[in-house]
Amino acid sequence: MTDEATRPMRLHWWVMESPANGHDPVLLEETLHWLNLRPGQVVVDCTLGRGGHALAMASRLGPEGLLIGLDVDPNNLEFAQQRLSGAACPVRLFHANFAELRDVLAEVGRNEVSAILADLGISTNQLFDARYGLSFGQSMALDMRIDPRLRQSAADLVHSLKEEQLANVLYELAQERYSRRIARNIVEARRVSPITTTERLADLVRQAYAGRGGSHERIDPATRTFLALRMAVNEEIPNLRALLKEAPGFLGIGGRLAIISFQSTEDRLVKQAFRSAEQTGQVKILTNKPICPTDAETSANPRSRSSKLRVIEKMGRT
Ligand SMILES: C[S@@+](CC[C@H](N)C(=O)[O-])C[C@H]1O[C@@H](n2cnc3c(N)ncnc32)[C@H](O)[C@@H]1O
Repeated sequence: MTDEATRPMRLHWWVMESPANGHDPVLLEETLHWLNLRPGQVVVDCTLGRGGHALAMASRLGPEGLLIGLDVDPNNLEFAQQRLSGAACPVRLFHANFAELRDVLAEVGRNEVSAILADLGISTNQLFDARYGLSFGQSMALDMRIDPRLRQSAADLVHSLKEEQLANVLYELAQERYSRRIARNIVEARRVSPITTTERLADLVRQAYAGRGGSHERIDPATRTFLALRMAVNEEIPNLRALLKEAPGFLGIGGRLAIISFQSTEDRLVKQAFRSAEQTGQVKILTNKPICPTDAETSANPRSRSSKLRVIEKMGRT
């Protein structure tokens, strides 16, 4: 964990192609509704991103409240810091992983908060920014690390994993049905020369699909491979597990935890963790079915299409 973000904001070419502020917050009204925020509360935004949710939450907390924000990406943190400079409540921001929530709350001297939000995955600007090496739509250095503290890039993984391990990553994290064929293609190609760009990796995946009816989902065949590698590089599942284990313990009675996920592996984990916590009597599930975006939101922001919001509330001791 690094303390408050202090570096000045930098703007990049992709800002021109991204939504305003680089990212549109998804399920914003629904999140505000289900978190039921009130003036004076202390709230944690575990995935600050470009500060869209945070700014709206801050406006509900007022000058007596406190917004604590975390992000693993120092660039997004800088941007959010600027955006939140006129926020309606005091703000404390940390370069930290939400798996480090305990350390962050210890740093601000709080062991109970009123609400915790995690809006998982990446922001739109990160996808377009070549520094992250995430996009199969443009050629970039194959990297995928959102947190500069991480040691292994996607290129490192693609070269160090055995064929079977690679196939397992693709299948287990993104249910890639051609995982074995793609892993074989990658291993054969890396014997010839290193795979260092997103373009080359995407081409290898597309070749594995060639002549096999393509993807039934009308998405680029590289989508699932890139998702799985990004999740592996950024340790997204272990981090989510850690958050789901710790977060309910930091809610005061009546406090709420909201998680927005974008794909089935994550949503399944959230659903199972919430059910287990409910069975202990610790929390109540408020959203028996996940909250999904309206048609108006998906047409204005197609990226919101797969988003699902689930919310729990902390119960009093019985
Ligand atoms: C979907 S965006 C959040 C967008 C944000 N709600 C907004 O309105 O702009 C996800 C953000 O979470 C960050 N992130 C991803 N995994 C994280 C983790 N384990 N801990 C902290 N931040 C994380 C990413 O760097 C990214 O900025």
